[in-house]
Amino acid sequence: MHNIRGPCFLMFFILFPAKVASLENGLARTPPMGWMSWGYYMCGDTCDTNPGRCLNENLILSVADTFYNEGYQEAGFEYIIIDDCWSEKRRDANGRLVANKERFPRGMKFLADYIHARGMKFGMYTNIAEVTCMHYPGSKNFFKLDAQTFADWGVDYLKVDGCFIKEESFLNTAYIELGRYLNKTGRPIVYSCSWPYYLKYIHNKHVNYSPIAKHCNLWRNFHDVSLEWPAVVNIIKHYADQYPKLVSHHGPGHWNDPDMLILGTGELTQSQTRVQLAVYAMMSAPLLLSCDIKHITPYEKELLLNLDLIAIAQDPLGIMATPVAITDLVIMYVKKHLPMKGDKIHSYSFALVNLDKFKRRMSFKAEDYGLNSVDGYTVMDVFSKVYFRNVTVSDLIVADVPPDDVVLYTLFPL
Ligand SMILES: *[C@@H]1O[C@H](CO)[C@@H](O)[C@H](O)[C@H]1NC(C)=O
Ligand SMILES: *[C@@H]1O[C@H](CO)[C@@H](O)[C@H](O)[C@H]1NC(C)=O
Repeated sequence: MHNIRGPCFLMFFILFPAKVASLENGLARTPPMGWMSWGYYMCGDTCDTNPGRCLNENLILSVADTFYNEGYQEAGFEYIIIDDCWSEKRRDANGRLVANKERFPRGMKFLADYIHARGMKFGMYTNIAEVTCMHYPGSKNFFKLDAQTFADWGVDYLKVDGCFIKEESFLNTAYIELGRYLNKTGRPIVYSCSWPYYLKYIHNKHVNYSPIAKHCNLWRNFHDVSLEWPAVVNIIKHYADQYPKLVSHHGPGHWNDPDMLILGTGELTQSQTRVQLAVYAMMSAPLLLSCDIKHITPYEKELLLNLDLIAIAQDPLGIMATPVAITDLVIMYVKKHLPMKGDKIHSYSFALVNLDKFKRRMSFKAEDYGLNSVDGYTVMDVFSKVYFRNVTVSDLIVADVPPDDVVLYTLFPL
């Protein structure tokens, strides 16, 4: 990060949020939450040799059952999304995509019905080229038919990848065209685009987010997360650095998507899990798990079902928290959200994130970040759920943050 961003920078974005045209299909009014196969299972099509990473019907049913029976669905985890490698290698005689017959013997409509019957939603995947990233059939030349097939199956969310496109101009037309066909099916389908990622990292082009926000409900800006902490750190640093460019396109119905959460994979310590969840919640990012659902630890489950944390992530205002850089590894995020006292005084959360190797003392005064309650605020530690102090706007709030950890406070107006 190159700029030191102080209160003046922050006030600019709080007082004058840019207004931009965006997709208004009534969907994804808060960032999608759920589970997606790719991060942990990846292709998952070699079930004989690698049964622990098999993408099949049983896997999807077990995620649905766990979400439904263990409180995740009630906490908001709603979308169960199958990524690449779900189909037969050939379309049928009518040109339709076919679910892989060995791994999904009862087809996709069966899974959609099963998930819908439990009050949740079903997501799938395609690519805008002839083949997907893993060389399964892609949707190029079949946009209309595939949109209708997904709608017929009861799909509620479609992730559309952008591998193997030679001309960047095709990205700029194909995502719009496929989106129109999805719309024409009449079925509400959240539209997730990988469009900006491919523009920037594969075609080395400057990204204009206006058309993307106008045609997609969410979009991937940056590399896939891999199952390791350094990948999470790179994502956090990237979004903090790109915040001025990304913030004006982000809000209800249209979200920047930093990719999946990697808890439940055994790759993160407890404090690293807190950091990824806290930063994603502050950014109003989608919360999509990718793990073997049976390996979520009791502590991780407690975090995922922490409704004070989920409330920050799912706040209806959908504001992307402002990162105030102390150094490139020590960042304070500030987010305005509900509930309000009257019609002018918001609640706020502050995430004090330390990605450095040493403990850091961090501090702030509410008045420096636009907080204006003359009666002061009551301060809750989101992870312990303890209301530990009442403050005036000029009181200094101080916390010692261990390495790779976060302190997350919500200030409610008194
Ligand atoms: C289709 O687009 C129109 C215009 O943006 C929107 O009002 C409508 O809700 C969309 N319908 C679906 C099913 O996405
Ligand atoms: C904060 O103020 C409220 C309202 O006066 C009071 O009920 C509460 O006990 C106070 N909390 C602390 C931690 O002092």
